[in-house]
Amino acid sequence: SLVNPRKTQFGPLSDQDRIFTNLYGRHDWSLKGALSRGDWYKTKEILLKGTDWILNEVKVSGLRGRGGAGFPTGMKWGFMNKPSDGRPKYLVVNADEGEPGTCKDREIMRHDPHKLVEGCLVAGGAMGARAAYIYIRGEFYNESSNLQVAINEAYAAGLIGRNACGSGKAFDVFVMRGAGAYICGEETALIESLEGKQGKPRLKPPFPADIGVFGCPTTVANVETVAVAPTICRRGGAWFASFGRERNAGTKLFNISGHVNTPCTVEEEMSIPLRELIERHAGGVRGGWDNLLGVIPGGSSTPIIPRSVCDDVMMDFDDLVRAETALGTAAVIVMDKSTDVIRAIARLVQFYKHESCGQCTPCREGVDWMDKMMWRFVRGDAAKSEIDMIWELSKQIEGHTICALGDGAAWPVQGLVRHFRPVMESRISEYNKKNPAREAGIEMI
Ligand code: NAI
Ligand code: SF4
Repeated sequence: SLVNPRKTQFGPLSDQDRIFTNLYGRHDWSLKGALSRGDWYKTKEILLKGTDWILNEVKVSGLRGRGGAGFPTGMKWGFMNKPSDGRPKYLVVNADEGEPGTCKDREIMRHDPHKLVEGCLVAGGAMGARAAYIYIRGEFYNESSNLQVAINEAYAAGLIGRNACGSGKAFDVFVMRGAGAYICGEETALIESLEGKQGKPRLKPPFPADIGVFGCPTTVANVETVAVAPTICRRGGAWFASFGRERNAGTKLFNISGHVNTPCTVEEEMSIPLRELIERHAGGVRGGWDNLLGVIPGGSSTPIIPRSVCDDVMMDFDDLVRAETALGTAAVIVMDKSTDVIRAIARLVQFYKHESCGQCTPCREGVDWMDKMMWRFVRGDAAKSEIDMIWELSKQIEGHTICALGDGAAWPVQGLVRHFRPVMESRISEYNKKNPAREAGIEMI
């Protein structure tokens, strides 16, 4: 069982410790409102402290990438801190939020766009970038509109542009809208798309820090990661690091959806127990905690965990890995006992099949096979030996592809087999009972 010895030490986060103070859009999201909430406060001083100072605060904060992979942010931004070879450096903000269940970046851009624009300037300052490109999901029309208004306001007020915040440094921010492809959220596919090509992932290495957009050193960073940078610099890396626990520091946006009483997006302390998160902020599971079947804890790519694991697990990188799943985008999808869990996972596999760019055989062919098998498991129209077969197939996809989409398709299937094999077997038994040929042991093709 997963025991959390420090359970009582996490959350609730007080209002004064929240970074996204306009999360629900209760106040004006434009520059006037943003200034009244403390955005753009002493940004000039932060920039004048220089690259090393900003980088150091981000390192001290313990911030890890909020897009899903959790790579240490200070280290990643530090890869850009090399002597100039004449090529300009760029920050690219990944706002192509497409992971099913995830809508945290959307909330930031909708209700707190100035946090992101200021974040671009500060993060750009940490890596000596000349400009930021915000690549935003095409479907986020209202959000890109709000963002553009915020950028225009920032230019008009001299906060960005030729002499950003009066710091003597030039910094531009551009918005680029995607066209609705999930794969363009993968950083190298995003770069290709930004360059006007088809959004197909590149092999890494070289990492974008060496060869990124237009062949120049680039850091691709998630919206939330960039948007928290100014507050970290203002309040200090140590302040941010005081939340959560070692290697899992800070506050974090969580999306809670599915079979809860009040689905929501909320900022909480990292490492908060999953149960506490759901009960405190989402009004609990529909029908009570005992009615819980399982939870996908971090967006559709992360394996489902059953109720027995949900009882004790903490919402952070390490504890969720210990539970054989992942924090991912921290998008919690709750399923109660009314859920057909096989169908739910089959629907996710169908999604990945649709979104595969088709470059690598294990992903293109393997996910197609998994999709076909999963719909037979939904009906029960399969042999029990095929459960091991789909597990093996998922292992042949995992780690054998150019980008993480293949892994993202394999992991939900692995979670299903790991925890819900009896459900799959009994579905097959029921089907066999209704089909005499099967009951007699004759395999149907
Ligand atoms: P990754 O682990 O390959 O890379 C993470 C970051 O660290 C990248 O920016 C990469 O360039 C950098 N990096 C890693 N090693 C490096 C090195 N040696 N030198 C320089 N830079 C290095 O993970 P990836 O593919 O970027 O992200 C996968 C995750 O994205 C999944 O786990 C999933 O949770 C999440 N995801 C999020 C979505 C969303 O809507 N936010 C959509 C789909 C997936
Ligand atoms: Fe394309 Fe899938 Fe290969 Fe990623 S894993 S590059 S989406 S075929």
